[in-house]
Amino acid sequence: MANVAVIGAQWGDEGKGKVVDWLASRADIVVRFQGGHNAGHTLVVGNQTYKLSLLPSGLVRGKLGVIGNGVVVDPVALLEEIARVRAQGLIVTPDTLRVAENAILILPLHAAIDKAREAKRGERKIGTTGRGIGPAYEDKVARRAIRVCDLAEPETLSFKLDELLLHHNTLLQGLGAGTFEKQALLDHLLALAPQILPFAEPVWERLDQARRAGRRILFEGAQAVMLDVDHGTYPYVTSSSTVAGNAAGGAGIGPHAVGFVLGIAKAYTTRVGSGPFPTELFDDVGKLLGKRGHEFGTVTGRPRRCGWFDATMVRQAVKVGGIQGLALTKLDVLDGLPELKICVGYDINGKRFNYLPAAMGAQAAATPIYETMEGWSGSTQGARTWGALPAQAVKYVRRIEELVEAPVTLLSTSPERDDTIMVKDPFEG
Ligand code: IMP
Repeated sequence: MANVAVIGAQWGDEGKGKVVDWLASRADIVVRFQGGHNAGHTLVVGNQTYKLSLLPSGLVRGKLGVIGNGVVVDPVALLEEIARVRAQGLIVTPDTLRVAENAILILPLHAAIDKAREAKRGERKIGTTGRGIGPAYEDKVARRAIRVCDLAEPETLSFKLDELLLHHNTLLQGLGAGTFEKQALLDHLLALAPQILPFAEPVWERLDQARRAGRRILFEGAQAVMLDVDHGTYPYVTSSSTVAGNAAGGAGIGPHAVGFVLGIAKAYTTRVGSGPFPTELFDDVGKLLGKRGHEFGTVTGRPRRCGWFDATMVRQAVKVGGIQGLALTKLDVLDGLPELKICVGYDINGKRFNYLPAAMGAQAAATPIYETMEGWSGSTQGARTWGALPAQAVKYVRRIEELVEAPVTLLSTSPERDDTIMVKDPFEG
């Protein structure tokens, strides 16, 4: 029995929440391995809607949730989210949630830096969620970050804060933003410590035991390959590694344990924040996709930019992300459109490319080369078999499979959990 890693194959918001929830019901443990509370996963279970940012989705299904070392944890956001889902009836205790003792903490100064820098960037802003994700990862690689385990050592906290504040207060001052005071931060962290530490442990040990006992592990990715800090549309990316390879490093388990890699893609494309988006639509079709698809950010509420399916980009995500099968979502949003376009390559300054090159200028200049397909008049909504889909919708899906060079493993046809066509159980490997 394989484990499964789920990652986004576009720019995030592909509908991972539903797919992860569906898979979580078949798993024993659900592990977050990157990102932080910039993610937003909406899970609809019965008449309850859960909006999770940092908590692993498996908690909704009563499964053990693990926050891996690759995640950046805002302790205040974590405690608030726990309180919120508890109020909805979920049980979150140190028996159901474990947090890596070596995960990095996001402090209030990280969000302050994030927002101050974005404000200074003006027109060139990245469009971050403003939650301090980037600055926290910067501190991690700069070796000055405060980690969950430091909460147990007041002396360590004290000297680490000295170094941290030397760096950040200098920067904040330069940006004309307010600075932070050491004692207040120390008090803040020491007050949080007894609430966070009961969840902390070396999660790699637990995951190793689970793996050896044949338990099913689901690795829950956040954001997506095109927001990956190496492979995405840099610098308009998030600050973590979102590819499946990082499920191992970000959880503390070997690469062989990651198992089947399922990429999630919408049947069209959306993006929040700034950055290149070759197939973006500025016309009525774009507006229709946004309206029908309820395309507003879960975390920030920002309207998402919408466009045609970009097979060139998803093919690239399949290759660099290690995707073995696709879960295609929101096909029903395309119902009734007379014609559909799929991007099969880019024209960049008169030259054809079958991938998105890394250079910023080239990405900005990429004009999509489209293949046009006939739409379908029937409805795909709620279909649970291929036979229930209009023939032209099946053709569209098959063409996507060909172009992105990956099979469709799951097809989701509505937000309802059971409105899914399963071609293959990802846990079967
Ligand atoms: P950050 O992760 O807050 O630094 O934001 C960097 C970029 O990633 C921005 O364009 C955000 O809009 C985008 N981003 C971060 N998290 C998500 C997500 O969960 N879904 C979609 N976009 C995201």
